[in-house]
Amino acid sequence: MTKLEVLISKEQIDKRVGELAADIRRDYADKDPLLIGALKGSFVFMSDLMRKLNIPVEVEFVRLSSYGAGTETSGKVKLVQGIKTPLKDRHLLVVEDIVDTGLTLHFLLDYLQRRKPASVKLCALLDKPSRRVVDVPIDYLGFTVPNKFIVGCGIDFNEEFRYLPDIYTVEEQ
Ligand code: IMP
Repeated sequence: MTKLEVLISKEQIDKRVGELAADIRRDYADKDPLLIGALKGSFVFMSDLMRKLNIPVEVEFVRLSSYGAGTETSGKVKLVQGIKTPLKDRHLLVVEDIVDTGLTLHFLLDYLQRRKPASVKLCALLDKPSRRVVDVPIDYLGFTVPNKFIVGCGIDFNEEFRYLPDIYTVEEQ
């Protein structure tokens, strides 16, 4: 049986995303930023953040895979779908759902840097620092979470629970 427990409520998420949006708006107001989301997990956070930013932005998505079925990362990141839009001299803001080992973002930041953008920064809704394998600089962070498996707000467990508005920890019983 799968047991879910609320870790962060939708009201807390909403408030924090508003605060992040205010910080990003201040830093990017005159920079015509391009938001880069990593599918599928980031799409809910991306959509909430983008609508609170209140400045003109463009969005692109990449699709990366590292998790097979289950709760353990395979450790090998693969690019399933890249970005065709030129990124040269653009100010990129990567929008990620959760940073765990850091391997996915390390791979993505390298992929983006090769396209010679003007700048690359990172915004993550959740950080699970206890499991970090490679260091990644998070410029805008929503919440730090404990070393538990997380679902909700776009984040899944075997494709389930993405639709839940709150953030939960999952326990298999
Ligand atoms: P990393 O490469 O280990 O940092 O993992 C990054 C990706 O793994 C995230 O974008 C998520 O898609 C997925 N992930 C990491 N931790 C969790 C979790 O607790 N629940 C669901 N997905 C997770």
